[in-house]
Amino acid sequence: MSRLTIYRDNAPETALLDTENPREIAETLRPLNVRFERWQAPVTPAKDAPPEQILEAYRPYLDGLMGETGAGSADVVRFDRNTPQIAAMREKYLSEHTHSEDEVRFFVHGQGAFVLHVGDKVYSVLCVQGDLISVPEGTPHWFDAGLNPDVVALRVFTDTTGWIAEYTGDEIARRFPVTIPDIAA
Ligand SMILES: [Fe+2]
Repeated sequence: MSRLTIYRDNAPETALLDTENPREIAETLRPLNVRFERWQAPVTPAKDAPPEQILEAYRPYLDGLMGETGAGSADVVRFDRNTPQIAAMREKYLSEHTHSEDEVRFFVHGQGAFVLHVGDKVYSVLCVQGDLISVPEGTPHWFDAGLNPDVVALRVFTDTTGWIAEYTGDEIARRFPVTIPDIAA
């Protein structure tokens, strides 16, 4: 289940809100300019489907989103625990950072948590299969897919030079451990 948990940034032990209702998640995140949507393809592509097939399955949603945001490119990323350098990758995403463009991800398979730090609040958004999230440019955040990741995701972007992060140097992510439910088969 998708899930949003909100904390004050100095109190990781007390949730101010904890919801698994996708509509409530979307409405709570909207004022932060965070887009959260559920996308449904007529047929969910297989985990090992070629990228073109995955892009095609979500084409109407992608076209709509790209038309609205002006983003020009989309691709498919996959990683699991056998991905080379996966531990180093995880560390990279786990430190609070920002980007100079929106970070837009759609979960075709698997799950991961985007944790946003806005003002004095922390918004932990657990995204699962069928969830789209867009983290606005300049918004401090981190990401975790857990110790046993198994993710196929779409990326939608304008800057084709790749994933570039500006680290804030804040160690806050260490104080907000993310729990990724174990759904490994
Ligand atoms: Fe990021």
